[in-house]
Amino acid sequence: MRSSLGGVGLLGLIVQSVAAVDITWSDPSSIKSGTSEVAYGLVKFYTGNNTGDVPGNLPDPYYWWEAGAFFTTLIEYWAYTGDTTYNAITKQAMIHQAGDDLDFMPTNQTRSEGNDDQGFWALASMTAAEMNFTNPSSSEPQWLALTQAVFNEYVSRWDNTTCNGGLRWQIFTFNNGYNYKNSVSNGCFFDIAARLARYTGNETYAEWAEKVFNWQMGVGFITDDWDVMDGAGNGDDSNCTEINGALFTYNAGLYLHGAAYMYNYTDGSELWRSRLAGLVNSTTRNFFKDNIMYELSCETAGLCNVDQQSFKGHLSRWMAMAAKMAPFTYDTIVPLLTSSATAAAQQCSGTSSDFKGTQGTACGFSWLQGSTWDSKTGIGEQMNALSIMITPLIDEAPTPYTSDTGGSSTGNTEGGSSDSSKIQQERAITTADRAGAGILTAFILAGLAGGVFSVTI
Ligand SMILES: *[C@@H]1O[C@H](CO)[C@@H](O)[C@H](O)[C@H]1NC(C)=O
Ligand SMILES: *[C@@H]1O[C@H](CO)[C@@H](O)[C@H](O)[C@H]1NC(C)=O
Ligand SMILES: *[C@@H]1O[C@H](CO)[C@@H](O)[C@H](O)[C@H]1NC(C)=O
Ligand SMILES: *[C@@H]1O[C@H](CO)[C@@H](O)[C@H](O)[C@H]1NC(C)=O
Ligand SMILES: *[C@@H]1O[C@H](CO)[C@@H](O)[C@H](O)[C@H]1NC(C)=O
Ligand SMILES: *[C@@H]1O[C@H](CO)[C@@H](O)[C@H](O)[C@H]1NC(C)=O
Ligand SMILES: *[C@@H]1O[C@H](CO)[C@@H](O)[C@H](O)[C@H]1NC(C)=O
Ligand SMILES: *[C@@H]1O[C@H](CO)[C@@H](O)[C@H](O)[C@H]1NC(C)=O
Repeated sequence: MRSSLGGVGLLGLIVQSVAAVDITWSDPSSIKSGTSEVAYGLVKFYTGNNTGDVPGNLPDPYYWWEAGAFFTTLIEYWAYTGDTTYNAITKQAMIHQAGDDLDFMPTNQTRSEGNDDQGFWALASMTAAEMNFTNPSSSEPQWLALTQAVFNEYVSRWDNTTCNGGLRWQIFTFNNGYNYKNSVSNGCFFDIAARLARYTGNETYAEWAEKVFNWQMGVGFITDDWDVMDGAGNGDDSNCTEINGALFTYNAGLYLHGAAYMYNYTDGSELWRSRLAGLVNSTTRNFFKDNIMYELSCETAGLCNVDQQSFKGHLSRWMAMAAKMAPFTYDTIVPLLTSSATAAAQQCSGTSSDFKGTQGTACGFSWLQGSTWDSKTGIGEQMNALSIMITPLIDEAPTPYTSDTGGSSTGNTEGGSSDSSKIQQERAITTADRAGAGILTAFILAGLAGGVFSVTI
């Protein structure tokens, strides 16, 4: 297993930042050319389009959910820059991973899949629909229908036997973490519901978005200060009172993004305006140091795991789109993204045998480190940098389309299937299978065992 945490950067220590990614931020063509270098380095990590490999999978140590995030990033990269280089591999991968039931539960992943793993692929298909990404042929899965299938399955999994409602982290009882209810699983549900409401105009989605958000607040995962805590419900904590208070950029980002869509969908309602303002406030308070985005719970201690090393990229893209959906947040959000983009570009100066892009352009993880490459390289680091560095193009990026404004994806409100039928069809798990949920399990359990996170009761 290649670790992003130690050792990999030895070469970098003796190489100065000669190449680097040098961008003139006032010039969109310079941003496009610089980010194309970062995208090239990112896609060099991908092996799924090689003969004999599985389209949509990333190599070890990257888990299946991160692949969903990877393709979301490539779709947004295309939408912001117009560079179509990676569209074909993206479309191939997303179709391949749709699974027999057209719901992002492919047989190879089902058994270990959590609601958040499935959600990160549904976020990719929702982005494809909103960006009017190339539609698959009519005999293939459709972006909107895939997202609706995941939404329908989330509805069927809403569980009020503990904690007064909410989605569990895990789908199946036999997986570690089944009792845990968490902000990321419910955040995927909330964000998808909010975006489906806006895309389709169907009020049922908005009602679910409202319900999930109210539950998050009621159970205390979103605090009075608008912090989004990680989750609760482990062991016999059936009221979700023992909350894991760790704060991560991706949790905050999901609610901030979904709230911006609800604000827009409700034509600027006071309710969603105040919720969004609160989330923007907490996000800027918690995850920026000297106006540069960072991963509060693990970055400065150097303890972020492989998953956590990709979270800032999601927050970057979600904040940018929130500024579009809710223009009143633009003046707060965009300057912070721009200063973070500048800092991130300075980290794209690494040289390492683990990096197959242009040497001297591997992006480090910590944007707080100035122009001295922090000697880390990997998909998370590269994806974060690409995500933040396209955000200064926000004014040229398309506003996410809806079915009324140019979105052309075909839907199916009846999509999805029952979880019990899936597990009966299951073949034996092989060592080649990737445990979608496994690594997320690892970080939560490590956190609860007294690792880096503070635990609030
Ligand atoms: C995989 O995709 C990349 C990026 O588009 C491309 O450069 C490469 O040639 C592709 N590999 C194969 C085997 O098709
Ligand atoms: C499932 O995994 C096996 C073993 O890695 C692989 O050969 C196969 O192509 C995968 N199937 C799909 C549909 O991805
Ligand atoms: C729990 O959910 C079920 C099914 O949706 C519903 O019938 C029941 O009234 C709910 N119970 C509570 C306490 O909300
Ligand atoms: C942000 O939150 C803090 C603490 O909750 C509060 O004191 C402050 O007024 C808020 N700022 C804005 C602009 O809402
Ligand atoms: C959960 O909350 C209910 C109502 O407040 C209380 O009666 C019950 O004892 C609590 N259960 C646990 C396990 O704390
Ligand atoms: C909704 O988003 C559109 C597109 O960016 C924007 O023009 C409009 O002002 C937004 N609505 C509100 C109420 O801010
Ligand atoms: C979306 O894609 C469809 C199909 O390619 C196309 O007809 C339509 O013009 C596109 N919409 C926009 C807004 O570009
Ligand atoms: C709205 O969405 C719900 C939930 O998927 C579905 O049952 C209903 O048929 C949809 N309504 C319309 C008019 O499409």
